[in-house]
Amino acid sequence: MTYLESAAKFYSEVAETPDVGLCCVQSTPLQLPGLKIPLQMQEMNYGCGTTVHAAELSGAPTVLYVGVGGGLEALQFSYFSRRAGAVIAVDPVDEMRQAAARNLELAAEDNDWFETSFVELRQGDAFSLPVADASVDVVAQNCLFNIFEPEDLTRALQETYRVLKPGGRLVMSDPIATRAIPEHLQQDDRLRAMCLSGALTYEQYVQRIIKAGFGQVEVRTRRPYRLLDKENYSMDENLLLESLDTVSFKVDIADDGACVFTGKTAIYTGPHSYFDDQAGHILTLGVPVAVCDKTARNMAKSHPQQVVVTDSTWHYDGGGCC
Ligand SMILES: C[S@@+](CC[C@H](N)C(=O)[O-])C[C@H]1O[C@@H](n2cnc3c(N)ncnc32)[C@H](O)[C@@H]1O
Repeated sequence: MTYLESAAKFYSEVAETPDVGLCCVQSTPLQLPGLKIPLQMQEMNYGCGTTVHAAELSGAPTVLYVGVGGGLEALQFSYFSRRAGAVIAVDPVDEMRQAAARNLELAAEDNDWFETSFVELRQGDAFSLPVADASVDVVAQNCLFNIFEPEDLTRALQETYRVLKPGGRLVMSDPIATRAIPEHLQQDDRLRAMCLSGALTYEQYVQRIIKAGFGQVEVRTRRPYRLLDKENYSMDENLLLESLDTVSFKVDIADDGACVFTGKTAIYTGPHSYFDDQAGHILTLGVPVAVCDKTARNMAKSHPQQVVVTDSTWHYDGGGCC
């Protein structure tokens, strides 16, 4: 059995017998006015963060959701679009699509505004998405791509790039590792399927996104996810996994590299009332301006006396340069 087949088998099992606590973080799913999430759906929350960011979802976008799980986030996305077929949810595991269909039926009973036609469940997988080129506004995946080995991750990212419209958004939530995960854990297919041993480091993960062609990456959240302790996982030291929520844009990569926003700001300290770096950034005296990491690096290097650059907050949701 390949690791992908092991993962499919694992998810067929947890589709039939929900595994409360698998992947999920210790927080309740995003609550929205007038949205009731059926208990069965909540128990199948196999995401490690969130991909539903209200600010991304104006204009009733078409969303392609990869790896539907119990259907929780497909339901949340449909809350914003509210039209037939606006959310296309893909999963290769028959039992998982069936479980999602059952949960969405329950959601339709509990929510006046929701119709099951809002979410179209399709058989397919992350490496061959069953939609046309440049046809969707948003692609989302939660806690799936970390399962993939690095070259498969690149293939899956390239496939999302193919189906997104120009300017479209890839919204992801995945575990990342604070250092390389030892080989003996990476080779454990069950741990990989459980989203515990396939994670890349932050730098590797972001570089894969850029390698697939995305010109802008924004970090929405980065927080502790799981601790792999040295005794149970046979390591010299404990290993912390973090959960990383990102939004990546299908825009061209600038000649001097992609823009990655991690919550840094640049602040002009004087002596004038403003500072113009002649590269598109105007800083008013004393006022923090959000900048991408590339701009932060450039400013700190070119004007170390006049510009203070603050640390990454690991939370950025718009505004600023570029
Ligand atoms: C960790 S669960 C996450 C489920 C859902 N995103 C959530 O947040 O609850 C991974 C999901 O991806 C599906 N999956 C497994 N292999 C896949 C593949 N190659 N392509 C697409 N989906 C896959 C599984 O069946 C499962 O539904």
